[in-house]
Amino acid sequence: MKIDHAKNKILIIDFGSQVTKLIARRIRDFGVYSEIVGPKELIKKNALQNVTGLIFSGGPSTVTRKKFPKIPKEIFTLNIPILGICYGLQLITKVFGGQIKSNTKKREYGRTQIKKRKNSTITENFYIKKKNEVWMSHQDSITQIPKNFFTLASSSNSKFAIIENKNQNIFGIQFHPEVSHTNRGSILLKNFVFKICKTKKNWKTSNYKKKIIENFKKINNKGKIICALSGGVDSSVTALAINKVFKKNLVCVMVDTGLMRKNEFEDIYNLFKKRYKINIKLVNHSSLFLNKLKNVSDPEKKRKIIGKLFIKIFEKESRKIKGIEYLAQGTLYPDVIESKSATGSHTSKIKSHHNVGGLPKKMKLKLIEPLRDLFKDEVRRLGISLGLKNEIVYRHPFPGPGLAIRILGKITPRKIKILQEADYIFINELKKNNLYSKIWQAYAALLPVKTVGVMGDTRTYEYTCLLRAVTSTDGMTADYFSFPKKFIDNISNKIINNVIGINRVVYDITSKPPSTIELE
Ligand code: XMP
Repeated sequence: MKIDHAKNKILIIDFGSQVTKLIARRIRDFGVYSEIVGPKELIKKNALQNVTGLIFSGGPSTVTRKKFPKIPKEIFTLNIPILGICYGLQLITKVFGGQIKSNTKKREYGRTQIKKRKNSTITENFYIKKKNEVWMSHQDSITQIPKNFFTLASSSNSKFAIIENKNQNIFGIQFHPEVSHTNRGSILLKNFVFKICKTKKNWKTSNYKKKIIENFKKINNKGKIICALSGGVDSSVTALAINKVFKKNLVCVMVDTGLMRKNEFEDIYNLFKKRYKINIKLVNHSSLFLNKLKNVSDPEKKRKIIGKLFIKIFEKESRKIKGIEYLAQGTLYPDVIESKSATGSHTSKIKSHHNVGGLPKKMKLKLIEPLRDLFKDEVRRLGISLGLKNEIVYRHPFPGPGLAIRILGKITPRKIKILQEADYIFINELKKNNLYSKIWQAYAALLPVKTVGVMGDTRTYEYTCLLRAVTSTDGMTADYFSFPKKFIDNISNKIINNVIGINRVVYDITSKPPSTIELE
């Protein structure tokens, strides 16, 4: 099911930059629909329909080599304004006959000052006293700009930090206006989108809600729709959106793995069943999961066992429901973009992620993915407009394998119980102290070490609880959260006094990288 949203949109051509998604995020924040495509997709029929402007992203390639990702030349003759960022700028320079050099001595990484050289629509209101601080990340530099291009700004290492070809409405920026380290970077993008491309605002999550509901209605709705509900934001919003239109056809399956947090399974079930009146099939397989995980301590093995078992159970349970035709999944736009990377390169695998989205490919069901055009914060807004409780909308992320990867080493029912209690206290204290919403993700973990303690004159030999709390925007990088001293002083006592089995609490002060957010 493909939704056609936009009468006018900005198309971003992805050349493999780590921050391409941020360009799309910024533009959607302006109220304009933007989409990311690979350079090869530009030759597809109707690829440029309703496109008011093109942005070429940065990327790891270099135009100084024989082979580099290109763009069909006709694109430059269509009168659609173009903005090239970093690699995008270098590609434009190459196409129009300028010179680029790979120069390790002149590379620029990090914050840099640029100075204004010439006025232009794209830089209106961008400078502060003819200067600005921007974020550079490049090794190749332009040594000569093409004919009919002019320099708008320079830095000490980049003579051509911003260039323009006014007649053809083509612009190039060496730094990254999309990242927050570039001061007022959004102004450059706004000027391009509105003043140069004359794009109209047309993107609101509430429009999107209407669109998905209209689109659902077009579906032949005789068949049943199955959805794995975990209580995470994505699956919850997916289920609620579908429930608005196809109440009778939707069956949500909740698989109890026994690896959820304290009361979590029951709470989610009650909320969705009673408040949202969703048809839910509840299946408890916690002893099966525990059995399969017995004596397993390797993190990757744990992840694989849980992932495989989940699919097996989900398939088995779905087969018991008659007349299923569709599978609803909470796939988000970042997952869609990832699967069509410009360079086709694979990033190195750090962990095998388990996710209910994308699981049962073998089931041969038609897919419904109502969130596939949305970023996470847009999904949250959609959730609110569908009446989803704030408590669910703003929940911290929780990994598919659940507590299994937060009990380091072997998993036992006792350890699950201990961890559930400790985590419950930690999260409740965060909420009570108004800290929960300031933190991107927080949890307690149980370390596989016992240490000696003394409680009431008696020696104890019990487990160590590790607390983790991080700030982040997307989980790709993270910083540990700096707790007020009072909170950190009290939390250890609260946990130790209330949880039998723990006699020591430690706080993880590592950022990501070098660590990851989860421990396994
Ligand atoms: P890491 O540990 O890789 O985690 O820094 C980044 C984010 O991903 C979450 N995470 C998962 N989410 N299935 C998920 O749906 C998984 O298997 C999984 N493993 C980690 C993690 O909680 C953090 O938010």
